[in-house]
Amino acid sequence: MIATTIPPGASPSSYAYRSVTGRDLISIQDFSPDELACALELAASMKARPADFRGVLSGKQIVLFFEKPSLRTRLTFEAGINSLGGSSFFVDQTQSRLGARESLSDVAHNLERWIDGVVLRTFAHETVTAMAMHASIPVINALSEQEHPCQALADMLTLQEHFGDLRGVRLAYVGDGNNVAHSLMLAAASLGASISIGTPAGYEPDPTITETARELAAASGAQVRVSNDPIEAVSGADAVYTDVWASMGQEEETAERQRLFAPYQVNQKLFSHAAKHAVFMHCLPAHRGDEVAASVIDSPRSVVFDQAENRLHIQKSILVLLLEGGAHRFPPRSANA
Ligand code: CP
Ligand code: NVA
Repeated sequence: MIATTIPPGASPSSYAYRSVTGRDLISIQDFSPDELACALELAASMKARPADFRGVLSGKQIVLFFEKPSLRTRLTFEAGINSLGGSSFFVDQTQSRLGARESLSDVAHNLERWIDGVVLRTFAHETVTAMAMHASIPVINALSEQEHPCQALADMLTLQEHFGDLRGVRLAYVGDGNNVAHSLMLAAASLGASISIGTPAGYEPDPTITETARELAAASGAQVRVSNDPIEAVSGADAVYTDVWASMGQEEETAERQRLFAPYQVNQKLFSHAAKHAVFMHCLPAHRGDEVAASVIDSPRSVVFDQAENRLHIQKSILVLLLEGGAHRFPPRSANA
């Protein structure tokens, strides 16, 4: 489905709850800052009062096609769908890529006759965009080589819980300028959190995404910095985030990346450049001794399992917004407290 925009003059908060209904979440850019804020707000309500939302997806059927392995994403989608009264179907696509047996367009036109929503984890980002273009039902990106929007939204919820307000939060990301970095940059910049990225030369984020993040930051009052200096990236940060050095599909580059990325390991020395109250973040799975030292990820300052928990709540929120919407049914938390 093609994204729509909020008309000028519409009330953003109430409009945003309804405006995403029937749309896709392929990139963080598919949601406006108000719509992202609504997703966080609804997720917080669902986390606080899960019983109020039982049955909200009753009768809805959602299919998950995964070309890559998953623990968190698969289980939080399936548990979330089931807890909302919907049904989920998992299709293991790790042995042959989507579109190999028949065209993506034909797959999409079959799915839209049977199912209410599609969740895709793919190698090529174009597989997700093609499915969204051809299918008339909502399509959610559960990780592509370019973005991991559900992860970034769970991370924003975690930061919001920890710091109260995302505006003014300084997030550092060190390591590979990959899918996780891209979605984090876009989400942070949209929501008013500053982000400072430190990567080895040649592994910076996609310049187009950096440019878009800078435009979003200019509107939200945040800053986006990219450098090749891990200490500069981490200095004074409220939260320090890293991800694997070799993403799924890059396993043959592991040895070369271990050599190049070694100065970007988040160990106690690098972490000591962050603010005294800083938290450590990682999307998981983690490789202790590579991108993060065990003494950091296993310390009380690590919020990695809060991030993992919040995958459940944010994905429930995304599913309800895309499949159900309805500001009247899901008033903002402040109005319902
Ligand atoms: N963080 C994350 O997406 O984990 P999985 O690969 O286990 O789904
Ligand atoms: N960048 C990692 C994230 C895993 C959740 C990957 O794509 O494998």
